[in-house]
This record gives sequence, structure tokens and C-alpha cells, in this order.
Amino acid sequence: MSDSPAPEKLWSGRFNEPTDAFVEAFTASVEFDQRLYQYDIQGSIAHATMLASQGILTEPERDAIIQGLKQIRSRIEAGDFNWSVALEDVHMNIESALTESIGDAGKKLHTGRSRNDQVATDIRLWLRDELGTLRDAVLRLQTALLDKAAQEAETILPGFTHLQTAQPVTFGHHLMAWFEMLERDRERLADCHRRVNVMPLGAAALAGTTYPIDRHLTAELLGFERPAENSLDAVSDRDFAIEFSAAASILMMHLSRFSEELIIWSSAQFGFIELSDSFCTGSSIMPQKKNPDVPELIRGKTGRIFGHLIGLLTLMKSQPLAYNKDNQEDKEPLFDTADNLKGSLKVFAEMIPAITCRKEAMREAAMRGFATATDLADYLVRKGMPFRDAHEVVGKAVAFGVAEGRDLSEMSLQELKGFSGTIGDDVFQVLTLEGSVSARNHIGGTAPDQVHAAIARARVRLGLE
Ligand code: ARG
Repeated sequence: MSDSPAPEKLWSGRFNEPTDAFVEAFTASVEFDQRLYQYDIQGSIAHATMLASQGILTEPERDAIIQGLKQIRSRIEAGDFNWSVALEDVHMNIESALTESIGDAGKKLHTGRSRNDQVATDIRLWLRDELGTLRDAVLRLQTALLDKAAQEAETILPGFTHLQTAQPVTFGHHLMAWFEMLERDRERLADCHRRVNVMPLGAAALAGTTYPIDRHLTAELLGFERPAENSLDAVSDRDFAIEFSAAASILMMHLSRFSEELIIWSSAQFGFIELSDSFCTGSSIMPQKKNPDVPELIRGKTGRIFGHLIGLLTLMKSQPLAYNKDNQEDKEPLFDTADNLKGSLKVFAEMIPAITCRKEAMREAAMRGFATATDLADYLVRKGMPFRDAHEVVGKAVAFGVAEGRDLSEMSLQELKGFSGTIGDDVFQVLTLEGSVSARNHIGGTAPDQVHAAIARARVRLGLE
């Protein structure tokens, strides 16, 4: 970033005094919005093409503009472009460089356009690309989950409610729960894309423009679904950005829950999984430590993503129509949201295959905590007992087991018969972990067969098969 020599401002005509140096730096956005350069150039090329096709620019002017813009793009990419704070933002830096390089034709590029519709267009073009990348990143994580779920379709661990052992579940089924959450996240991103993909250009500063523009042509050139219906709305609202931020927050909320499970499961107290060394770090003082830093960091990053959502909502709140400078503040939270989301999804997808299940520890935990108590109640119901009575009977058996330090499956038939005469020796197959999970054999249930069927359907939904 250079400050000298100060280039002339593109809007300085009505001003008598120069901008205060601090105010200039304070109001500038070029330090962060230069990231939009390729979208700004893409939008300008389409705008110039449309202006020429409407006879507002000559063809030689159009060609000079397009060539000049492409050259600027190459210079930026080669690191050979001098961004100037005095030129405030990405838009005026590029326009000023264009005029410097091609002369008067450069000054005509801004005909029928304002930075207000320009910046709204740039962000939408940028976000449209990001949404595509993010959807692919979610898909990669989902694919990793499908592979892991297929491997672990028969693995049994305790399922929890209130973090207390509830009923045995298969690990494949558990992983497929995360798959489903992510599938909704991917849909939310796709849905957000529909509302992002609408073109502000032509709205100009706020009211439209007096030139005979063709907004449909510009929209088509930029791959937008359609031009925005209302110019005031087009330049001012950032609801599409808020919507993205909300979808990102929900996605991060899911990743934070998943992270929390990985953290708990990899603790010595649970010992359900081992995360490979590449996703953990050690402690500088405690030699025995292997910390699950990656899931912890993702859990932590959820905070800033939620913060950006509240930030953007508050930024937009109570803003009168139409464009206000407040909106310049939309970019940093948006960029940060997209960057951290992409990073979190990428590392998560790589972490899934690096999880090793400690099946014995999972099994042992499922054996403790009377995970098959509901199965015993269901068994009594099948023998003709009303469910409430069965619940009571099993409650007594559990109390006995707690006192004795034994699971239901570890009691003798005589002991069990003491709670209900209807219990026969066929009870033991329902009290086993395998019997319990395989009995939940309906769509959405935890039986291994159902897990395999759910994975097969999921592969079709993702278009993988
Ligand atoms: N840098 C500005 C932004 O990010 C561009 C639009 C400025 N428009 C204006 N009328 N000052 O919002």
C-alpha cells in the first residue's frame, strides 16, 4: 500500500479542502476490499460490453477498456499493482489505474453506474463463488462420513440422552446423524445461492440511470439469474449476506457439536476413539498429553462466526434507504466467515478417516448403564404387559442391578423371573447389545441393516451412485 504521491480523488470536483489524512485512512476500505478485484473487473467488463452494445460506448472504447482491465488483473496477480489508500477502495483504485493506462476511454467506464451498485454486485459475485466452494467442502465431509459409517455400521456404543447412557446404537448410525445435519446445511447454502444470484447493476446510485442500459444483457453476461427488481433495494440491502452468515452459523453450530463429541470421546475417561497424532498436539509441560486441538479450535471458531452474524444483523438494523457507508463494514465479517468455514470443513473432512474406534471401550460402556432396559420393557409388552407396568418392573430390576453392580444381561433367569413371571429364557437375546440394535429395524433406526440402507440412499442423494 503506498500513500505517495497522493493520486487525485475521482470525486474531488465539489470539494475545496483536501481530506484529512486520518479520515482518509479511516474511511478507506482498500486494505480489505482489494480481495474483490477479480469480481470488480468481471463486473466492469460486462458493464462495458453492455454499454457498447447499447451504443453508449463505441466498440474501440469498449475494447480498450476490456484490454486495460485484463492488464490490470494480470498486474494485480503478479503483485505489480500499487494499491492506494487515497483512492479509498478497490473500485476507484482499478478505475484510476485504467484511466492512467488507456486514457479518456477509462473515464467512460463509470457511465450509468455507481459504486453503490458496483460494490453490491462484486460481493454477490464473490459470495456466489464461495457458496459453490463451500458446498463442495460440505460434500467432501459428507463423503468421508459415509465411508466411515459403512466401516462402523456394526460397531456398538452407548447412545446418550442427557449425556447418560440411554440405549445402544451403532456408530455408523451415529455418524449418519451428522451426515443428515450436513445435508441440510448444504441445502441452506444452495438456497442462499438463489437469492445471492440476482444482479444489482443498473440500480446506479439508488434510482437507476438515465442511459438506455440493458440490464438483462449485463445479468446474462455475469451469469445472474435476473436483474434486481428495485434499484433502492438492490444497492442497500445486505440480507443475502446475513442469510449466508446465518447458514454458516448453523453449519458451525453443527461442527461445534461434532467437535465436542470427538473431544469427549478421545478423553481417557471415555476412550471411545483415538484421533491420529496429526490432529492433536502435545503439551509443553505435561509429557503425557495428547490434546485434540483441531476439534477444540473448530469449536472455538464457532464463536466468531456467530459474532459475525450478530454483527451483520446489527449493521443492517434501522438503516434508512438506500446505500449508507455502514455497509462497507459487511466485508470483513463475510470474508472471515467464508475463510474459517472453509478451513474448518477441510480439516474436518481430513480428520474423519483419522479416527480410530476403540470398539472394546465402546462396548464396555454400553454394557454399563443398563442400555438395554427399554428392550426388556418392550419384551414384557410383547408378552402382554401394558407399557407403564413394564416400565415399573424394569425399574425395579435396574435398581437391583445397581445395588449388585450387574447389568440386566448378567442376571440369572431366576433373578429376572423374580421381577415378572412372564420372563422366559428367550429374554437374553433381547438383552444383548446386538439384539437391541438389530431389533430397531425400520427406516431411520439404528440396526446395522438400516445403516447400510441409509448409506446407500445417501449415496444416491449425493449423486455418487
Ligand atoms: N467502499 C464502499 C463499500 O464498500 C463502496 C461503495 C461506496 N459508495 C459510496 N457512495 N461511498 O461499501
